[in-house]
Amino acid sequence: MAIPRETVEQILQAARIEEVVGEFVTLKKRGANLIGVCPFHNEKTPSFNVNPARNIFKCFGCGKAGDSAKFLMEHEHFTYPEALRYLAKKYNIKIEEKEQSAEEIMQQSLREKMFNINEFADKFFVDTLWNTEEGKTIGLEYFRERGYFDPIIQKFHLGYSPAKWDAFTTHAKQNGYADDLLEQIGFSIKGQKGLYDRYHGRVMFPIHNLTGRVIGFGGRILINDPEKKSPKYQNSPESEIYDKKQTLYGIYFAKNAIARQDECILVEGYFDVLRMHQIGIENVVASSGTSLTMEQIKLVKRYTKNITMLYDGDSAGQHAALRGTDMILSEGMNVRIVLLPPEHDPDTFGKDYSVEYVTNYLKENAKDFIRFKTELLLKDAENDPIKRSQVIRDIVETISVIPDSIFRITYVKECSRLLDMPEQTLTNELNKILRAKLKKTLGIEDNVVPETNTTTIPQQQDTVEEQLPAGFYQERELVKLLLMYGNEVFVDVREEENGEKVYEQVTVAQYIIDELKQDGFLFTNIINRKIFDIFDHALDEGQIPNDQFFVSHEDETIAERAADLLLTPYKLDQWKKYSIYVKSEEEVLGAVVKSSVARYRELIVDDQCKAIEEELKATENLDDQLILLKRKKDLDDIRKQINEELGIVIAK
Ligand code: GTP
Ligand code: MN
Repeated sequence: MAIPRETVEQILQAARIEEVVGEFVTLKKRGANLIGVCPFHNEKTPSFNVNPARNIFKCFGCGKAGDSAKFLMEHEHFTYPEALRYLAKKYNIKIEEKEQSAEEIMQQSLREKMFNINEFADKFFVDTLWNTEEGKTIGLEYFRERGYFDPIIQKFHLGYSPAKWDAFTTHAKQNGYADDLLEQIGFSIKGQKGLYDRYHGRVMFPIHNLTGRVIGFGGRILINDPEKKSPKYQNSPESEIYDKKQTLYGIYFAKNAIARQDECILVEGYFDVLRMHQIGIENVVASSGTSLTMEQIKLVKRYTKNITMLYDGDSAGQHAALRGTDMILSEGMNVRIVLLPPEHDPDTFGKDYSVEYVTNYLKENAKDFIRFKTELLLKDAENDPIKRSQVIRDIVETISVIPDSIFRITYVKECSRLLDMPEQTLTNELNKILRAKLKKTLGIEDNVVPETNTTTIPQQQDTVEEQLPAGFYQERELVKLLLMYGNEVFVDVREEENGEKVYEQVTVAQYIIDELKQDGFLFTNIINRKIFDIFDHALDEGQIPNDQFFVSHEDETIAERAADLLLTPYKLDQWKKYSIYVKSEEEVLGAVVKSSVARYRELIVDDQCKAIEEELKATENLDDQLILLKRKKDLDDIRKQINEELGIVIAK
């Protein structure tokens, strides 16, 4: 549901950066700023700055910067709306959801009812496990028998649902829960003699969402049923609050560890998650029976780009792993696979071996997908040449889903080594697939897509020395002036042709944008250019956005650049020291702006002149030379004009 624009602004204004950050980072006062140890990278001496005046943070160590919402998104891995809701709650701002329809209100209250009954059930199952004879002797005993200790049973809220057919249903009805709701969310099933419990006589696993609310349950039968009259696990049906393809079991307990270790271990079952936690490996989640979905992968991607699949060593496990890899790769993530010995799953493996052994096993047996797939498929293909070429195609197909071309090249190299095939053969095969895909996306039928070598490393990658474009620093200075003083006014003095002086009030933004546009010197850096365009557009509309607008901009690159520039403030005072003649703050500002613009224009002119001279040397054609000379003359004129302007500023 959308949060109204005004409320968003209200929230961002109310949020005090020092208070928001202060809940997670210990801050000390240092001048006008507060500093602390950066929560986003490892450091001993604090380089994490919080600026209450600008309401933003910036780490000078790792470069992360932004406003309160950005901080929460980075630190708590919230989405933008989640961050806003958090802030709204903290600052007691009521979010009036945009005109909810009657149906939406019904939906909303249905969801609340569902969360509510799940919480109620969770309490009941936990209470039954620990405090009833049946729960203790059957349920608790089952967990302990399998080698689980009390703290882990408590942490995951494991429970027990009594064997009596309708124990929970009756208890819930006595507490006012309606039959409909009980059925809808799946606790009760309608039988011939009325409602009975779906999970009767099972140990219970509540399933939590990211914020720790219970959205569903899984219940395991206590004795494996050889005739399969009832399934080993009963799970909640999908509901308004439980979407299986969006859910990973254990994510609530694992998210911090996943972010901290920058890796997520993916297993298959509830008990696999429990076991890993018990032995101290906490960055683990389970896809719980369903085959891995794109949504689940995206959920993990909020915390890390690295997934390790830890699957059973049997053939089913291997093929489940294979299915997952392509999806993970296509999200631009890295995937490694660890297969356990065939007789084990992560649960039994963690029970039989020490933490050290398990950790070491993971380290030594993690294979990148290419090696995993190659070994696995080649084993099947043996020496059959037809099967072998199918394998190669298969693997190249997998490589083709990787979005980043540099990674594709790396994998082609690795694949060529493993398969003992010339790299070029594989590259050709890969390009064929990529072209086919491109054609498909473009909707082209015949062979009109040019034969580009899609895996070639771009030329720039090879040049060691990175050259900054002309006026790089001056460009940054101008953006900084735009952001900090865009709205402020100074008096611009111009000399007319007849020698008369014209005094004109102008805003900093108007002056900078106009001056640059007249020569067509638009910023070269993409992000600076975006900021330039926003100002340009806003001026057309007769308004100038303030710094907060940029710092909270939805385009993260803009927000980050703004925070970055705003946090290294301009010292107008310093300028005042050097320009003895200027008196007021306003005059200083005018002088600074004008000389900054002039300096930037000068550098760009110099750079373009140099380029023209090079071209002149290289060209023989007279017409071309004339065009170049004409351009050079224009630049010379601009230079003259700049010099005059600089003269005014300096001589004043
Ligand atoms: P244990 O056999 O108790 O060790 O459980 P497990 O987690 O090792 O089960 P298994 O490896 O057989 O299955 C992995 C996951 O698939 C389970 O954790 C469940 O989420 C799911 N699953 C397994 N069996 C069933 C079933 O019969 N029905 C449903 N709906 N899901 C199942
Ligand atoms: Mn198991």
